[in-house]
Amino acid sequence: MAVRPYIVGNWKMHGTRAMLSEARAIDRAAERLMKVEVALAPPFTLIHATRKEAGLIGVGSQDCHAAEGGAHTGDISAAMLKDSGAGFVIVGHSERRADHGEKDADVRAKAESVLAVGMSVIVCVGETEEQRDAGKAESVVARQLKGSLPAGDGAAEKLTVAYEPVWAIGTGRTPTVDDVSAMHRSIRQVLVDLFGDEAGAKVRILYGGSVKAENAAELLAADDVGGALVGGASLTAEAFLGIIAVAAEMQEN
Ligand code: 13P
Repeated sequence: MAVRPYIVGNWKMHGTRAMLSEARAIDRAAERLMKVEVALAPPFTLIHATRKEAGLIGVGSQDCHAAEGGAHTGDISAAMLKDSGAGFVIVGHSERRADHGEKDADVRAKAESVLAVGMSVIVCVGETEEQRDAGKAESVVARQLKGSLPAGDGAAEKLTVAYEPVWAIGTGRTPTVDDVSAMHRSIRQVLVDLFGDEAGAKVRILYGGSVKAENAAELLAADDVGGALVGGASLTAEAFLGIIAVAAEMQEN
C-alpha cells in the first residue's frame, strides 16, 4: 500500500445539511488518523458547508462541466467548485458515463478543466461484468485511461486514478485480490507509458466498489492499491471511520 493511503468518500446523490454532522465526526477523527489522507465528495449543494465544517479532510466534487463558463443551464465549472471550497473533482465515474452518456473525450476535457484551475482530479475507470467475462477487463480499462486521462506537462502531478469495476459498485461483490492486483499493475504500466517512468510511478491508484471495513484490509493490501474510493460505506462516520481505521492500522504494521 502507498506511503499514505488516500481514502475518499463519494456521497453520490445523498445528503442534506443534516448529514454535515457525519462530515464533522469524520473530520474530528481524521485528526487522530494522520497516517491516512481522508477526503469527502459530497453533492454540489454541500461542498461549501462541508468545507466550513470539516477543516482537516479534503473536500471535493463528484463532477464538473468542462467549460470555463457560459450558457450551460444547471452545470457547474471547475472554477466555481474551487470558489465554493473544493480541492479536487472526481470525473468519469461510471454512473456519469452511464446516466449522462459521458465518453472518454468528455472525461478528459473535464479533467483538464480541473487541472487548469489548479485543483486535483480523480479519474474513474472500470469494466462492466460482460467485459470482464469476455476477458477484456484490462484492455477496456487501458483504452479508457488512454482516452480519459488529462494530457500536457505536469498533468500526472495532480492526478489520481480510481479503478472501479462497474459490477462491484453498490453490489456487495468485489473482484478477487489477484484480479485487483493484476488490474492495478496493468494501470500502472499504462501510466508509465503515458507519463514516463518517474511521473507515471507517482500517480495514486485507488480501488472502488463495495469497499467496507470488513474487506478493506485485503483490498488495500493488493498490489499497487494506494487507497479506496468508497460509496455506500462513506455515508456514516461510523462506517467510513471503520475503513480509515483499517488503513491506519496497516500503516502501523
Ligand atoms: P460503493 O462503495 O457503494 O460500491 O460505491 C463505489 C463507488 O462508486 C465510489 O465512487
